[in-house]
Amino acid sequence: MVSHGERPAHPFVGSPRILGDMSSDLDAPLDVLVRAPQPGAEDLSEPLRSRWSPSVYDDAHTLTRAEIDQLLHAAQWAPSAGNSQPWVFFVCERGSANHDRLVPHLSRGNSGWVPRASVVFVTAAHVLTGNDADAPAYSDYALYDVGQAAAHLTLQARSMGLHSHQFAGFDHEALAADLGLPATHVLLTGIAVGVQGDPASVDERTAARDERPRERRGLDEIARAGTFLEPWA
Ligand SMILES: Cc1cc2nc3c(=O)[nH]c(=O)nc-3n(C[C@H](O)[C@H](O)[C@H](O)COP(=O)(O)O)c2cc1C
Repeated sequence: MVSHGERPAHPFVGSPRILGDMSSDLDAPLDVLVRAPQPGAEDLSEPLRSRWSPSVYDDAHTLTRAEIDQLLHAAQWAPSAGNSQPWVFFVCERGSANHDRLVPHLSRGNSGWVPRASVVFVTAAHVLTGNDADAPAYSDYALYDVGQAAAHLTLQARSMGLHSHQFAGFDHEALAADLGLPATHVLLTGIAVGVQGDPASVDERTAARDERPRERRGLDEIARAGTFLEPWA
């Protein structure tokens, strides 16, 4: 029951819920599942269908250690070239020392919303083999692999009723130094994870970000039926 002063009911606002088998959600109108429109995404399965990147997070929400581990497990079990697993995830829980390291290096555009998320995973790729005995056999595809592991993490988050928003707008050099990143690795992105917050609790500019239409290039642009000049009609 919702009493006065409590947040109004919204499927993905408040405590995360485990969506489990989301096949029954497929018949639900999209605006019940998500706030942002997803034109063209209607034929996707969950959790792909309701994934998007909100910027308004509930800054009172925290994740348990088990939930954070579960998100990391999704990345851990992503495929990688030669099973090299060329990734490192720096866990930056809100209020932690790593969070304090991250926040000062955020770009102006990201500093308004990223700190409110429950946790941020800062991703790094092992791109140089180096002389270490445990150096991965393959590193040519490290960027591809980390991107894929990140995608798995975001979809695991969605299936746990959480939202995520990846970002690259931060001072990579300064944060790499503060995190003690070795020269064999390159810092790539942050993945902010949490639950949606009340738009009224953030500044107008941040709230307006979540009202922006989501658009995509058409299949004729991103796919080819033959050679490069033959679009997928
Ligand atoms: C590598 C990468 C870097 C990104 N950098 C930023 C960023 O610095 N700030 C931001 O607000 N969003 C950032 N995004 C989020 C994208 O803007 C967002 O995913 C895109 O607009 C599509 O929206 P959707 O995720 O809601 O489908 C980034 C996403 C990726 C994958």
